Amino acid sequence: MYDEVIVRPLRHEDADAVRSLDGRIVGPDRSKSWDRYVDRFLRLTDLDALPESPWGCYVAEIRGRVVGFLLSELRGGEYGLPRGAWIMAVGVDPKLRRRGVGRKLVDELMSQCRQRRVPDIYAAILPGDNEATGFVKSCGLDPSRGVAIYSKTT
Ligand SMILES: CC(C)(COP(=O)(O)OP(=O)(O)OC[C@H]1O[C@@H](n2cnc3c(N)ncnc32)[C@H](O)[C@@H]1OP(=O)(O)O)[C@@H](O)C(=O)NCCC(=O)NCCS
Repeated sequence: MYDEVIVRPLRHEDADAVRSLDGRIVGPDRSKSWDRYVDRFLRLTDLDALPESPWGCYVAEIRGRVVGFLLSELRGGEYGLPRGAWIMAVGVDPKLRRRGVGRKLVDELMSQCRQRRVPDIYAAILPGDNEATGFVKSCGLDPSRGVAIYSKTT
């Protein structure tokens, strides 16, 4: 039997553990879609100064050790874009995968969204990223009909 996984809001003292876990998710295993997001987020969000945990950001811990994280942002309203929680980064310790830790983090976000009446959850996934696609689909996300992403090569 596996040890209990506890999911809770990100706190300022988690920053180093999250940064270190993010640093261990490297190479082909690293979601290219988040790139340097985690480190930038932790630097820009002065967790010490916040009166409470940032919205929609969680860690998963086992026996007090951080083994996963999920960082999301509440967006919407701009140019009429639908209101929703955007999963910006989610990662689980490579040694502790396929045990439901990632799913538990997304479930926590979903529950917070329901409480706050945030209607949708979004995740931007690179085409061909089968791992991320398999994961978000298993969490119940489908290709969006509400947001179209446009791009141009510079
Ligand atoms: C994606 C990631 C967060 C999943 O974490 P996890 O704790 O292993 O996920 P879970 O155990 O909760 O998996 C839930 C379901 O997602 C799907 N899934 C998970 N990993 C998968 C993979 N590598 N390939 C295909 N489907 C996968 C499965 O349906 C799985 O259920 P199952 O194990 O019963 O088959 C983790 O693999 C990771 O950190 N990857 C590197 C970072 C990354 O790509 N992040 C972007 C994700 S949007």
